[in-house]
Amino acid sequence: MAHFTFCMLFLVIATLALPSRGQLCPDFYDHVCPQALPAIKAVVERAVARQPRMGGSLLRLHFHDCFVNGCDGSVLLDDAPGFTGEKTATPNLNSLKGFKVIDEIKNAVNEACHGNVVSCADILAIAARDSVAALGGPPYMVLLGRRDSRTASLNDANNDLPPPVFNFSQLLSNFGSHGLDLKDLVVLSGGHTIGQARCTNFKDRLYNETNIDQGFAGALRNYCPRSGGDNNLAPLDATPASFDTAYFNGLLQGRGLLHSDQQLFKGDHGASDGLVSFYSGNPYAFWADFAVSMVKMGNIKPLTGNQGEIRMNCRKVN
Ligand code: HEM
Ligand SMILES: *[C@@H]1O[C@H](CO)[C@@H](O)[C@H](O)[C@H]1NC(C)=O
Ligand SMILES: *[C@@H]1O[C@H](CO)[C@@H](O)[C@H](O)[C@H]1NC(C)=O
Repeated sequence: MAHFTFCMLFLVIATLALPSRGQLCPDFYDHVCPQALPAIKAVVERAVARQPRMGGSLLRLHFHDCFVNGCDGSVLLDDAPGFTGEKTATPNLNSLKGFKVIDEIKNAVNEACHGNVVSCADILAIAARDSVAALGGPPYMVLLGRRDSRTASLNDANNDLPPPVFNFSQLLSNFGSHGLDLKDLVVLSGGHTIGQARCTNFKDRLYNETNIDQGFAGALRNYCPRSGGDNNLAPLDATPASFDTAYFNGLLQGRGLLHSDQQLFKGDHGASDGLVSFYSGNPYAFWADFAVSMVKMGNIKPLTGNQGEIRMNCRKVN
């Protein structure tokens, strides 16, 4: 009862303050399963300690979930006879990682809660938050109460996720189509302060672009030849296991790894340049704004109430 009252009160306040906030709230599981969040955090911390890159992979899963018809766990559904998921979409295929850790989390949480009460979509939001914290980023409050989709869309995954070849106006309009603005674009691209990318995604930049630091490009060409080596990895910033401002500092020096990264700082004194410079020198502002934009991204079209379901196994509908 107490849970319900606080949650409702929060919703009233949130609704008054921000009409588009949706119906999520921070204490959704506090009453039904107070062990849920600690159980998720423990698995994430273990996975990130084992392999720091996993923190980036888990953060990216939440992004790829939310940008395709909302944060509804659709990205986790496996292909099955008669069912096509999103895992073979161009931005996801041979690229998304962390599905086994999500399975591990789901099992741990079902056990901790003595039942199936935490949605896979919420697990993605919480795992992203805990991954960021595990790599030295800001702690923040996640809003919860999402439910899981019974559907997925390969087509929408191909169309709604921004590819790394996008120019600045394409990136801005893609984010706009998800209710996110310029500041969200710059701040959330700061997610590239952790993790790695495959050669195939930055090859053209190394060999065909001029707005790139020559020493940086030269060194990377050793790992990413003009032909072949498509799956060779390079870090997205100078410190891929630390949630810091090295990503923004790199952009100032022409050391953005992806074409889309460097689009945010072109040295033309545009609004985006200003934000990149600002965050490069203000880690606490980056942290605070990253938390705000993550909550905003996490609010994209969630299923709530009686919509969807709580999946027993994140890979398939019940
Ligand atoms: C602005 C548009 C974005 C584009 C074009 C983009 C593109 C990419 C690409 C191409 C990769 C490398 C994938 C591979 O080589 O397999 C990548 C990795 C990554 N992205 Fe983004 N991304 C964008 C925004 C975001 C956002 C908003 C987040 C999270 C807040 C994010 C988090 C990550 C992370 C953490 C990785 C590394 C994953 C790993 O190491 O497993 N990205 N992104
Ligand atoms: C960005 O790309 C779109 C689509 O290719 C193109 O129409 C537009 O002119 C480009 N914008 C800039 C500033 O290059
Ligand atoms: C670079 O541009 C050339 C000429 O447009 C093109 O043939 C080539 O595929 C591009 N990419 C690389 C990695 O060289």
